[in-house]
Amino acid sequence: MPVPFLAPLGVEHPLVQAPMAGSDTPALAAAVSGAGALGSLGCGYLEPEDLLARAAQVRASTDRPFALNLFVLPESFAVDEAAVARIRERLDALMAAEGLDVRTTRPARWAPSFADQFAALCEARPAVASFAFGLLDQARMRELRRRDIRVVGTATTVDEARAWEALGADAVCVQGAEAGGHRGGFLHPPEETLVGLFALVPLAVRAVRIPVIAAGGIMDGRGMLAAEVLGAAASQLGTAFLVCPESAAAQAWKDDLPRAAEHRVGTIRSFSGRAARGLVNRFVEAMRPFEHELPPYPVLNALTAPLRRAAAAAGRGDLLSEWCGQAAARVRPMPAAALAGTLADEYRAARQALAG
Ligand SMILES: Cc1cc2nc3c(=O)[nH]c(=O)nc-3n(C[C@H](O)[C@H](O)[C@H](O)COP(=O)(O)O)c2cc1C
Repeated sequence: MPVPFLAPLGVEHPLVQAPMAGSDTPALAAAVSGAGALGSLGCGYLEPEDLLARAAQVRASTDRPFALNLFVLPESFAVDEAAVARIRERLDALMAAEGLDVRTTRPARWAPSFADQFAALCEARPAVASFAFGLLDQARMRELRRRDIRVVGTATTVDEARAWEALGADAVCVQGAEAGGHRGGFLHPPEETLVGLFALVPLAVRAVRIPVIAAGGIMDGRGMLAAEVLGAAASQLGTAFLVCPESAAAQAWKDDLPRAAEHRVGTIRSFSGRAARGLVNRFVEAMRPFEHELPPYPVLNALTAPLRRAAAAAGRGDLLSEWCGQAAARVRPMPAAALAGTLADEYRAARQALAG
Protein backbone atom coordinates (compact mmCIF):
# COMPACT_ATOMS: atom_id res chain seq x y z
CA MET A 1 0.00 0.00 0.00
CA PRO A 2 1.65 3.26 -1.04
CA VAL A 3 1.52 5.70 1.87
CA PRO A 4 0.12 9.06 0.86
CA PHE A 5 2.69 11.84 1.38
CA LEU A 6 5.48 9.40 2.41
CA ALA A 7 5.60 7.25 -0.76
CA PRO A 8 6.28 10.21 -3.09
CA LEU A 9 9.33 10.98 -0.94
CA GLY A 10 10.63 7.46 -1.48
CA VAL A 11 9.68 6.05 1.92
CA GLU A 12 8.62 2.43 1.31
CA HIS A 13 7.08 1.36 4.61
CA PRO A 14 4.17 2.92 6.56
CA LEU A 15 6.55 3.36 9.46
CA VAL A 16 7.96 6.44 11.16
CA GLN A 17 10.59 6.16 13.89
CA ALA A 18 9.41 8.73 16.42
CA PRO A 19 11.63 11.69 17.13
CA MET A 20 12.95 11.22 20.68
CA ALA A 21 14.76 14.34 21.83
CA GLY A 22 17.68 13.36 24.01
CA SER A 23 17.45 9.65 23.12
CA ASP A 24 17.57 9.35 19.34
CA THR A 25 20.83 9.71 17.43
CA PRO A 26 21.87 10.40 13.84
CA ALA A 27 22.89 6.72 13.61
CA LEU A 28 19.38 5.62 14.66
CA ALA A 29 17.58 7.92 12.23
CA ALA A 30 19.95 7.03 9.36
CA ALA A 31 19.56 3.28 9.97
CA VAL A 32 15.76 3.52 9.95
CA SER A 33 15.65 5.72 6.85
CA GLY A 34 18.18 3.45 5.17
CA ALA A 35 15.84 0.51 5.83
CA GLY A 36 13.01 2.19 3.88
CA ALA A 37 11.06 3.77 6.76
CA LEU A 38 11.21 7.40 7.92
CA GLY A 39 13.87 8.07 10.55
CA SER A 40 13.51 11.16 12.74
CA LEU A 41 15.71 13.32 14.92
CA GLY A 42 14.14 15.05 17.90
CA CYS A 43 15.88 18.44 18.01
CA GLY A 44 13.77 20.09 20.69
CA TYR A 45 16.66 20.39 23.17
CA LEU A 46 19.37 21.26 20.64
CA GLU A 47 21.06 24.57 19.97
CA PRO A 48 20.97 25.49 16.25
CA GLU A 49 24.60 24.48 15.56
CA ASP A 50 24.00 21.04 17.08
CA LEU A 51 20.83 20.59 15.02
CA LEU A 52 22.81 21.35 11.86
CA ALA A 53 25.65 19.04 12.87
CA ARG A 54 23.26 16.16 13.58
CA ALA A 55 21.36 16.62 10.33
CA ALA A 56 24.70 16.56 8.48
CA GLN A 57 25.59 13.31 10.28
CA VAL A 58 22.38 11.66 9.07
CA ARG A 59 23.09 12.87 5.51
CA ALA A 60 26.60 11.47 5.67
CA SER A 61 25.13 8.00 6.35
CA THR A 62 22.11 7.88 4.05
CA ASP A 63 20.67 9.68 1.05
CA ARG A 64 17.14 8.61 2.09
CA PRO A 65 14.65 11.17 3.43
CA PHE A 66 14.45 11.81 7.16
CA ALA A 67 12.54 14.09 9.53
CA LEU A 68 13.63 16.77 11.99
CA ASN A 69 11.35 17.55 14.91
CA LEU A 70 10.99 20.64 17.10
CA PHE A 71 8.93 21.75 20.06
CA VAL A 72 6.95 24.90 19.24
CA LEU A 73 7.58 27.10 22.27
CA PRO A 74 7.40 30.82 23.06
CA GLU A 75 10.66 32.78 23.08
CA SER A 76 10.20 33.85 26.68
CA PHE A 77 8.07 32.88 29.64
CA ALA A 78 7.45 34.03 33.19
CA VAL A 79 9.63 32.39 35.83
CA ASP A 80 8.45 32.20 39.44
CA GLU A 81 11.76 32.59 41.29
CA ALA A 82 10.30 31.49 44.64
CA ALA A 83 8.99 28.27 43.06
CA VAL A 84 12.39 27.67 41.44
CA ALA A 85 14.19 28.12 44.79
CA ARG A 86 11.73 25.81 46.56
CA ILE A 87 11.94 23.00 44.03
CA ARG A 88 15.74 23.24 43.87
CA GLU A 89 15.83 22.58 47.61
CA ARG A 90 13.54 19.57 47.22
CA LEU A 91 15.56 18.15 44.33
CA ASP A 92 18.93 18.74 46.00
CA ALA A 93 17.70 17.08 49.20
CA LEU A 94 16.48 14.07 47.19
CA MET A 95 19.81 13.69 45.38
CA ALA A 96 21.70 13.93 48.69
CA ALA A 97 19.42 11.35 50.29
CA GLU A 98 20.01 9.02 47.32
CA GLY A 99 23.78 9.45 47.58
CA LEU A 100 24.20 11.17 44.20
CA ASP A 101 26.86 13.86 44.27
CA VAL A 102 25.02 16.36 42.08
CA ARG A 103 23.00 19.51 42.74
CA THR A 104 20.71 21.64 40.59
CA THR A 105 22.23 24.70 38.95
CA ARG A 106 20.54 27.66 37.36
CA PRO A 107 21.17 27.43 33.60
CA ALA A 108 22.16 30.49 31.55
CA ARG A 109 18.99 29.90 29.49
CA TRP A 110 15.97 27.75 30.25
CA ALA A 111 15.65 26.48 26.66
CA PRO A 112 17.12 27.12 23.21
CA SER A 113 15.37 29.81 21.16
CA PHE A 114 12.65 28.30 18.97
CA ALA A 115 13.18 31.03 16.35
CA ASP A 116 16.86 30.09 16.07
CA GLN A 117 16.09 26.37 16.00
CA PHE A 118 13.50 26.95 13.28
CA ALA A 119 16.00 28.91 11.18
CA ALA A 120 18.49 26.05 11.52
CA LEU A 121 15.83 23.51 10.56
CA CYS A 122 15.08 25.51 7.40
CA GLU A 123 18.79 25.60 6.61
CA ALA A 124 19.11 21.83 7.18
CA ARG A 125 16.16 21.32 4.83
CA PRO A 126 15.01 17.83 5.78
CA ALA A 127 12.36 16.13 3.63
CA VAL A 128 9.97 16.27 6.58
CA ALA A 129 9.67 18.59 9.58
CA SER A 130 7.46 17.56 12.48
CA PHE A 131 6.32 19.66 15.41
CA ALA A 132 4.91 19.11 18.88
CA PHE A 133 3.73 21.21 21.86
CA GLY A 134 2.25 23.98 19.68
CA LEU A 135 1.01 25.17 16.32
CA LEU A 136 3.26 26.95 13.83
CA ASP A 137 2.37 30.42 12.63
CA GLN A 138 1.48 30.98 8.98
CA ALA A 139 4.73 32.76 8.10
CA ARG A 140 6.78 29.76 9.28
CA MET A 141 4.43 27.42 7.44
CA ARG A 142 5.08 29.41 4.23
CA GLU A 143 8.81 29.29 4.88
CA LEU A 144 8.71 25.47 5.03
CA ARG A 145 6.57 25.30 1.88
CA ARG A 146 9.02 27.55 0.05
CA ARG A 147 11.77 25.07 0.87
CA ASP A 148 9.66 22.08 -0.13
CA ILE A 149 9.74 20.66 3.39
CA ARG A 150 6.71 18.48 4.24
CA VAL A 151 5.04 19.31 7.55
CA VAL A 152 3.66 16.91 10.15
CA GLY A 153 1.88 18.34 13.18
CA THR A 154 1.30 16.48 16.44
CA ALA A 155 -2.25 16.29 17.79
CA THR A 156 -3.65 14.68 20.92
CA THR A 157 -7.26 15.59 20.13
CA VAL A 158 -9.50 16.01 17.08
CA ASP A 159 -9.49 19.81 17.59
CA GLU A 160 -5.70 19.84 17.34
CA ALA A 161 -5.76 17.63 14.23
CA ARG A 162 -8.21 20.08 12.63
CA ALA A 163 -5.99 23.02 13.60
CA TRP A 164 -2.98 21.47 11.83
CA GLU A 165 -5.08 20.70 8.75
CA ALA A 166 -6.42 24.25 8.65
CA LEU A 167 -2.82 25.52 8.76
CA GLY A 168 -1.93 23.41 5.74
CA ALA A 169 0.04 20.54 7.29
CA ASP A 170 0.74 17.58 5.01
CA ALA A 171 -0.13 15.05 7.70
CA VAL A 172 -1.01 14.89 11.36
CA CYS A 173 0.47 12.51 13.90
CA VAL A 174 -2.17 11.65 16.48
CA GLN A 175 -0.70 10.72 19.83
CA GLY A 176 -2.81 8.31 21.84
CA ALA A 177 -2.78 8.18 25.63
CA GLU A 178 -0.53 5.10 25.41
CA ALA A 179 2.35 7.07 23.91
CA GLY A 180 5.74 7.38 25.59
CA GLY A 181 7.37 10.77 26.19
CA HIS A 182 5.79 14.20 26.49
CA ARG A 183 2.19 14.87 25.59
CA GLY A 184 2.51 16.76 22.32
CA GLY A 185 -0.76 18.71 22.39
CA PHE A 186 -1.42 22.38 22.83
CA LEU A 187 -5.14 23.22 22.98
CA HIS A 188 -6.32 21.33 26.03
CA PRO A 189 -4.99 20.47 29.49
CA PRO A 190 -2.92 17.27 29.14
CA GLU A 191 -5.03 15.32 31.63
CA GLU A 192 -8.03 15.82 29.28
CA THR A 193 -6.11 14.53 26.28
CA LEU A 194 -5.44 10.99 27.44
CA VAL A 195 -7.53 9.50 24.63
CA GLY A 196 -6.74 5.91 23.66
CA LEU A 197 -5.44 5.35 20.12
CA PHE A 198 -8.36 3.06 19.22
CA ALA A 199 -10.71 5.97 19.89
CA LEU A 200 -8.50 8.76 18.56
CA VAL A 201 -7.48 7.39 15.14
CA PRO A 202 -11.00 6.85 13.73
CA LEU A 203 -12.17 10.18 15.22
CA ALA A 204 -9.28 12.03 13.60
CA VAL A 205 -9.65 10.17 10.29
CA ARG A 206 -13.31 11.21 10.18
CA ALA A 207 -12.45 14.83 10.98
CA VAL A 208 -9.56 15.59 8.59
CA ARG A 209 -8.65 14.78 5.00
CA ILE A 210 -4.89 14.81 5.44
CA PRO A 211 -3.13 11.52 6.25
CA VAL A 212 -3.23 10.52 9.90
CA ILE A 213 -0.16 8.89 11.47
CA ALA A 214 -0.92 6.79 14.57
CA ALA A 215 1.37 6.94 17.63
CA GLY A 216 1.14 5.22 20.99
CA GLY A 217 1.77 1.68 22.16
CA ILE A 218 2.45 0.18 18.71
CA MET A 219 5.23 -2.37 19.03
CA ASP A 220 4.95 -4.71 16.02
CA GLY A 221 3.67 -5.11 12.45
CA ARG A 222 0.26 -6.33 13.63
CA GLY A 223 -0.15 -3.10 15.57
CA MET A 224 0.79 -1.15 12.42
CA LEU A 225 -1.86 -3.03 10.45
CA ALA A 226 -4.43 -2.43 13.22
CA ALA A 227 -3.74 1.31 12.97
CA GLU A 228 -4.17 1.09 9.19
CA VAL A 229 -7.47 -0.78 9.54
CA LEU A 230 -8.66 2.07 11.78
CA GLY A 231 -7.81 4.48 8.98
CA ALA A 232 -4.24 5.55 9.73
CA ALA A 233 -1.83 6.05 6.82
CA ALA A 234 1.23 5.08 8.86
CA SER A 235 2.42 4.29 12.37
CA GLN A 236 4.94 6.21 14.48
CA LEU A 237 6.87 4.09 16.99
CA GLY A 238 9.09 5.50 19.72
CA THR A 239 9.53 3.08 22.60
CA ALA A 240 10.18 0.15 20.24
CA PHE A 241 13.33 1.94 18.98
CA LEU A 242 14.56 3.04 22.42
CA VAL A 243 16.33 -0.26 23.08
CA CYS A 244 18.23 -0.33 19.77
CA PRO A 245 22.00 -0.13 20.18
CA GLU A 246 21.88 3.14 18.19
CA SER A 247 19.60 4.75 20.79
CA ALA A 248 21.26 7.06 23.33
CA ALA A 249 18.94 6.01 26.17
CA ALA A 250 20.95 5.10 29.28
CA GLN A 251 21.64 1.38 29.71
CA ALA A 252 19.76 1.30 33.05
CA TRP A 253 16.68 2.71 31.26
CA LYS A 254 17.00 0.14 28.43
CA ASP A 255 17.32 -2.62 31.03
CA ASP A 256 14.18 -1.52 32.88
CA LEU A 257 11.87 -1.49 29.82
CA PRO A 258 11.37 -5.26 29.28
CA ARG A 259 10.19 -5.58 32.90
CA ALA A 260 7.91 -2.52 32.83
CA ALA A 261 4.45 -3.40 34.14
CA GLU A 262 1.89 -1.47 32.11
CA HIS A 263 0.15 -0.14 35.24
CA ARG A 264 3.48 1.36 36.38
CA VAL A 265 3.85 3.40 33.19
CA GLY A 266 2.28 6.65 34.28
CA THR A 267 1.80 10.28 33.35
CA ILE A 268 4.58 12.22 35.06
CA ARG A 269 5.27 15.95 35.50
CA SER A 270 8.02 15.92 38.09
CA PHE A 271 10.98 15.66 35.70
CA SER A 272 10.11 18.39 33.23
CA GLY A 273 7.04 20.31 34.39
CA ARG A 274 5.08 18.97 31.41
CA ALA A 275 3.01 15.79 31.37
CA ALA A 276 4.98 12.88 29.91
CA ARG A 277 4.58 9.12 29.98
CA GLY A 278 7.27 7.00 31.59
CA LEU A 279 8.11 4.52 34.32
CA VAL A 280 6.87 5.41 37.78
CA ASN A 281 10.19 4.94 39.57
CA ARG A 282 11.78 6.06 42.83
CA PHE A 283 12.25 9.69 41.72
CA VAL A 284 8.60 9.97 40.66
CA GLU A 285 7.34 8.52 43.95
CA ALA A 286 9.67 10.73 45.99
CA MET A 287 8.48 13.90 44.21
CA ARG A 288 4.76 13.10 44.52
CA PRO A 289 4.21 15.24 47.65
CA PHE A 290 5.56 18.27 45.76
CA GLU A 291 3.50 17.96 42.56
CA HIS A 292 1.62 21.18 43.33
CA GLU A 293 4.91 23.13 43.58
CA LEU A 294 6.46 22.14 40.25
CA PRO A 295 7.55 24.98 37.94
CA PRO A 296 6.29 24.47 34.37
CA TYR A 297 8.23 23.28 31.32
CA PRO A 298 10.91 24.17 30.30
CA VAL A 299 12.05 25.52 33.69
CA LEU A 300 11.84 22.26 35.62
CA ASN A 301 13.27 20.34 32.65
CA ALA A 302 16.37 22.55 32.71
CA LEU A 303 16.73 22.26 36.50
CA THR A 304 16.60 18.45 36.46
CA ALA A 305 18.88 18.03 33.40
CA PRO A 306 22.15 17.73 35.41
CA LEU A 307 20.45 15.38 37.88
CA ARG A 308 19.25 13.11 35.08
CA ARG A 309 22.72 13.11 33.52
CA ALA A 310 24.28 12.15 36.86
CA ALA A 311 21.68 9.42 37.44
CA ALA A 312 22.41 7.97 33.99
CA ALA A 313 26.18 8.02 34.63
CA ALA A 314 25.66 6.28 37.98
CA GLY A 315 23.45 3.59 36.43
CA ARG A 316 20.53 4.79 38.57
CA GLY A 317 17.51 4.14 36.32
CA ASP A 318 15.29 4.69 39.36
CA LEU A 319 16.25 8.39 39.37
CA LEU A 320 16.04 8.89 35.59
CA SER A 321 13.21 10.10 33.39
CA GLU A 322 12.57 6.65 31.92
CA TRP A 323 10.09 7.75 29.23
CA CYS A 324 8.21 4.93 27.51
CA GLY A 325 4.79 3.98 26.20
CA GLN A 326 2.37 1.63 27.92
CA ALA A 327 3.52 -1.40 25.91
CA ALA A 328 7.18 -0.96 26.88
CA ALA A 329 7.53 -4.55 28.09
CA ARG A 330 7.25 -5.69 24.44
CA VAL A 331 10.54 -4.08 23.35
CA ARG A 332 12.81 -6.24 21.22
CA PRO A 333 16.44 -5.15 21.43
CA MET A 334 18.04 -5.35 17.99
CA PRO A 335 19.82 -2.98 15.60
CA ALA A 336 17.52 -0.28 14.22
CA ALA A 337 17.69 -1.43 10.58
CA ALA A 338 16.81 -4.97 11.66
CA LEU A 339 13.89 -3.69 13.74
CA ALA A 340 12.56 -1.55 10.89
CA GLY A 341 12.88 -4.56 8.54
CA THR A 342 11.19 -6.89 11.04
CA LEU A 343 8.31 -4.45 11.53
CA ALA A 344 7.84 -4.10 7.77
CA ASP A 345 7.90 -7.91 7.30
CA GLU A 346 5.43 -8.46 10.14
CA TYR A 347 3.15 -5.77 8.75
CA ARG A 348 3.18 -7.36 5.28
CA ALA A 349 2.54 -10.84 6.70
CA ALA A 350 -0.34 -9.58 8.87
CA ARG A 351 -1.81 -7.78 5.87
CA GLN A 352 -1.66 -10.93 3.73
CA ALA A 353 -3.18 -13.01 6.53
CA LEU A 354 -6.04 -10.54 6.84
CA ALA A 355 -6.65 -10.58 3.08
CA GLY A 356 -6.93 -14.37 3.40
C1 LIG B 1 11.96 8.78 24.90
C2 LIG B 1 10.93 9.48 24.08
C3 LIG B 1 11.18 10.77 23.63
C4 LIG B 1 10.25 11.43 22.81
N1 LIG B 1 10.56 12.66 22.31
C5 LIG B 1 9.73 13.24 21.40
C6 LIG B 1 10.13 14.40 20.69
O1 LIG B 1 11.23 14.93 20.88
N2 LIG B 1 9.25 14.94 19.82
C7 LIG B 1 8.03 14.37 19.56
O2 LIG B 1 7.27 14.91 18.73
N3 LIG B 1 7.65 13.24 20.17
C8 LIG B 1 8.46 12.65 21.08
N4 LIG B 1 8.09 11.48 21.69
C9 LIG B 1 6.73 10.92 21.44
C10 LIG B 1 6.69 10.12 20.14
O3 LIG B 1 6.62 11.00 19.04
C11 LIG B 1 5.46 9.19 20.07
O4 LIG B 1 4.28 9.91 20.29
C12 LIG B 1 5.54 8.02 21.04
O5 LIG B 1 6.82 7.49 21.13
C13 LIG B 1 4.58 6.92 20.59
O6 LIG B 1 4.35 6.00 21.60
P1 LIG B 1 5.31 4.72 21.86
O7 LIG B 1 6.49 5.27 22.57
O8 LIG B 1 4.46 3.84 22.70
O9 LIG B 1 5.67 4.14 20.52
C14 LIG B 1 9.01 10.80 22.50
C15 LIG B 1 8.77 9.51 22.97
C16 LIG B 1 9.70 8.82 23.74
C17 LIG B 1 9.42 7.42 24.19
